[in-house]
Amino acid sequence: MNKLITEEEAVQILERGGVVALPTETVYGLACSAKNAAAVARVYQIKNRPADNPLICHFHSVEQLIHYIETPNETEQVLLSHFTPGPLSFLFRLKPDSPLQPATGGRQTLVARIPAHPLFLSILKKLNQPIAAPSANTSGKYSATTAEMVLHDLGHRIDGVVNGGISRAGLESTIIQVTESAVLILRPGVIGPDDIREVLRSANMDKPVIYARSIETTPGSKYKHYAPDTPLRLLNNLSELPNDQPVALLTVDEISISEKSMVDVYSLGSVHQPQQIAANLYRTLFEMDQKKYPVAYLFLPPLSDKHWQHTLQNRIQKMIQHT
Ligand code: TXA
Ligand code: MG
Repeated sequence: MNKLITEEEAVQILERGGVVALPTETVYGLACSAKNAAAVARVYQIKNRPADNPLICHFHSVEQLIHYIETPNETEQVLLSHFTPGPLSFLFRLKPDSPLQPATGGRQTLVARIPAHPLFLSILKKLNQPIAAPSANTSGKYSATTAEMVLHDLGHRIDGVVNGGISRAGLESTIIQVTESAVLILRPGVIGPDDIREVLRSANMDKPVIYARSIETTPGSKYKHYAPDTPLRLLNNLSELPNDQPVALLTVDEISISEKSMVDVYSLGSVHQPQQIAANLYRTLFEMDQKKYPVAYLFLPPLSDKHWQHTLQNRIQKMIQHT
């Protein structure tokens, strides 16, 4: 199942309408040419993705992006120039009769991102076409943050993967929508509301930055997401851990468990470094899944950083949704 490919091979496969996994600084993406309806259909099939969930598209520059969208307003321009390339995605209005409609499922809106990973950026420049790339995982499962995770989940269904090492952030991008009255965070992620507020303040733009109820705008938010194969339960209290069978516990450095217990502890990092917890989360779920425990538990004490608390809770709640 060795399907590691070079950057040049990836460009050629994408040009021919193939589907490859590419590294980004957030998570790996399952990439195809955004204008190619047959390739987009294959991405849905490979991921087993619900048909009503449109695909995020990637661009190498603002110059390339503005070719496809209605002119960004001043707030969008400031945020684009400050945060891109990087882990911030924008919901924009498409120009009419857009060639990107295969990726957006006929919608008049587009979620767009300029990724910061040098390999992805270089492939975007060589292809010189927008790339549709949802996270490279079977629908419902955690995102892949290494090439090995992609190969394990989708290796036999895709045309290859470019190995770009471990995704630095390890968590999906923040998605925002700028309205007349506010900046709405549709999906919390690596960039938090304070980061956005600070940039707006220094540009003398005062718009509230608020978490939105994303379900109305990003169709993907209503489905189960990010889940491991192992049944996962959330713990409110460590005393709820069973001691009659081997189980896994995902938690933080600050928690310790009696050596005598049958619990295998997987630490995600320190409560004082929530970004590290986020970066380790999916990779640790993958590592844990290989051991085939009958059940795994997750215990995350409250974090003092409100944005990371909200962001990690967002992912964790979706992991256990409908299970
Ligand atoms: O960090 C990321 O954003 C990664 C990397 C690969 O770029 N991508 C990613 O894609 O997380 P995905 O498909 O797992 O999440 C994108 C979200 C989905 O919830 C989808 O519903 C929403 O964006 N979305 C995409 N296009 C949209 C559109 N036109 N209108 C509303 N929501 C859209
Ligand atoms: Mg995803």
